[in-house]
Amino acid sequence: MPASKIAGVGMYVPANVFTNEDLKKYMDTSDEWIQERTGIKERRYAHRTEETTTTMAVEAAKIAIERARTTAQDIDFIIFATLSPDYYFPGCGVLVQRAMKMKEIGALDIRNQCSGFVYALSVADQFIKTGMYKNILVIGSEKHSFGLDFTTRGRNISVIFGDGAGAVVLQPTTDIGKGILSTHLHSDGNSAEILAMYNPGTHANYWMEDKVANFDDAEMGQMFMSHAMIDDAQNFPNMDGPSVFKKAVVKFPEVIVESLTANGLATKDINLLIPHQANLRIAQFVQQKLQLTDEQVYNNIQHYGNTTAASVPIALCEAWEKGKIKEGDLVCLAAFGSGFTWASALLRW
Ligand code: ACO
Repeated sequence: MPASKIAGVGMYVPANVFTNEDLKKYMDTSDEWIQERTGIKERRYAHRTEETTTTMAVEAAKIAIERARTTAQDIDFIIFATLSPDYYFPGCGVLVQRAMKMKEIGALDIRNQCSGFVYALSVADQFIKTGMYKNILVIGSEKHSFGLDFTTRGRNISVIFGDGAGAVVLQPTTDIGKGILSTHLHSDGNSAEILAMYNPGTHANYWMEDKVANFDDAEMGQMFMSHAMIDDAQNFPNMDGPSVFKKAVVKFPEVIVESLTANGLATKDINLLIPHQANLRIAQFVQQKLQLTDEQVYNNIQHYGNTTAASVPIALCEAWEKGKIKEGDLVCLAAFGSGFTWASALLRW
């Protein structure tokens, strides 16, 4: 059975830099608060009309495909991870297929928020191992800036997010011991609502269940998304930050150690850990807990914020471009986020 390897990696971030000072124009916040609690100095925001989750993904994909020495016509499957799709449906996978004039290949969208890219990579890995596909395009892309509450009400979450895209091409390899060594996926839905966007949705609107019970059928049609929901900020992400933080600092180290143990390796063997860029404090906590050196961990949240499904491939691409990942290096990708879902992938580059 062949293993799969990352044959090419690409990233795209919008040109528009939005600093913490810029955010102060819209909400009661400060550069000190944001940097101290999250490490973020600035993030990128997509062009309002010309850039979407899909267009950014296409730019990242073009680079990944070129570096993999293949063409869009040779891609035989697309896996797209995002929580900020161009449309509620269809997903972004088919939009990439159309934009890149690809063949009528399969396209799968993954809704796993911050761990979406690592989940997507794991799915792609299985398809390569079974021999079903030979050139899989795996994408993580987000345009958060179109869906954030820029008032003081939403400041705990709006200051964190940024826009961007990352992509890889996965191909089979016969190099023994190279490529993806293993992937590890987890979830715990008990706290699903503490980091969630409630509407549009079909959950009978827990906040007005009593009223919904008395609606006639025609009115029910408006319950997916209504003016009242917008007035109640239901269309923005909600987060109980401290609870997410507490769970993240436990599950991140756990899933990293799980990947090492599965391969008979230890933390000292890691050449580069690329954690999902949720919050610099979380990454530092994980680094300390696993006793990793600064050289063993890659962070870039300072400049891009939390780009959710895009953060791992953007960081991977940037680290690779800076020469921080060399042939034979042991690279660990790990993510934790809404759901909760968390995941890791261990790779021999
Ligand atoms: N500027 C200024 N003050 C703020 C801001 C802001 N942007 N946001 C919140 N505050 C205030 C709060 O109102 C609160 O004030 P109070 O004490 O007067 O009530 C105070 O700061 C502390 O608020 P906390 O929410 O307790 O702040 P905390 O130190 O926990 O930091 C943060 C918040 C940064 C969100 C942190 O909890 C965090 O990073 N959590 C994890 C986030 C994460 O990993 N999310 C997962 C990825 S996202 C995804 O999966 C979709």
